[in-house]
Amino acid sequence: MWDGILTPEQRAQFGRCGNSIFAAPGKVGIRDALLSGYTTRFETPVQIREGDYEIDFVGAFSYFGGAGSRLLHVGNIGRFFMMGGDVTIGQAEHPVNQLSCHPMLQGGFGGWPVVAEHHQANAAFVAKSRAQRDMEHAAKFGKVHIGNDVWIGQGAYVRRGVTIGDGAVVAARSLVLKDVPPYTIVAGSPAKPIKTRFAQPVIDALLDLRWWEYGLTALTGVDPTNIEAAICQIEENIRCGRARPYHPPIVTITKDGDILRNPPLPTPQNERAQ
Ligand SMILES: CC(C)(COP(=O)(O)OP(=O)(O)OC[C@H]1O[C@@H](n2cnc3c(N)ncnc32)[C@H](O)[C@@H]1OP(=O)(O)O)[C@@H](O)C(=O)NCCC(=O)NCCS
Repeated sequence: MWDGILTPEQRAQFGRCGNSIFAAPGKVGIRDALLSGYTTRFETPVQIREGDYEIDFVGAFSYFGGAGSRLLHVGNIGRFFMMGGDVTIGQAEHPVNQLSCHPMLQGGFGGWPVVAEHHQANAAFVAKSRAQRDMEHAAKFGKVHIGNDVWIGQGAYVRRGVTIGDGAVVAARSLVLKDVPPYTIVAGSPAKPIKTRFAQPVIDALLDLRWWEYGLTALTGVDPTNIEAAICQIEENIRCGRARPYHPPIVTITKDGDILRNPPLPTPQNERAQ
């Protein structure tokens, strides 16, 4: 069980600086990444590689991270999410319409004595600058949301506020500034759609099917190389009860580094599938 997998040393290490977590149903292991100061909920299994994360929720069968990855300001990540290394998502934005973009103007770097003095003497303007930035950014930069069965390639950059639809692909080294529609492949800087993965009737069927809600039971006897046949087989699996809604254990990693195992919460996703 849980406590048997995590050694006291791993727990202590995790609490101090965060770690990369490999979770399987009912167990979790730890490697070297940064995951601290933030509460994240994961469905299991999930694999988190080296990186720095502020994510609210990650769906089952997803893996992400590796080499310099930084995922901040992220709301939900769906199931079967795939990601290369060196990906940046949701980096902070600075105000570009004030005298300087430097966060010092909004009260940052107060640990430097000369800056602290400046802040004290100009407190009203510091507060005004911060309030304006916060208001504008709250309106413009919501959390990044990533759908199910999404693949983000090596070295991509996704700006705050972007939503990536189910089944979408972000090509390596792309700069994603706008929402990505479901099952669309985007590439370049700035990223633009280069093609869809399937014809629109197939995309519509897949979005209706939401096979990921059933986990691997949806895929029993499915030939992934023949998309029409795969859809028919998944429909049949659901119809005959071979595919069952997947309700995995949910793991919470608290901002203090505590690891808690919870029963699955009802979500619109799994309620719909029942
Ligand atoms: C997005 C991707 C999957 C597309 O693969 P594909 O379907 O075989 O695409 P194609 O090779 O047919 O390319 C289609 C067009 O997109 C362009 N393109 C492909 N990848 C691109 C990229 N990363 N940036 C810019 N343009 C790209 C191609 O030049 C081509 O343009 P053209 O039609 O003008 O010639 C692939 O290019 C990619 O980026 N893979 C990510 C690999 C990775 O990051 N692996 C890490 C492990 S997770």
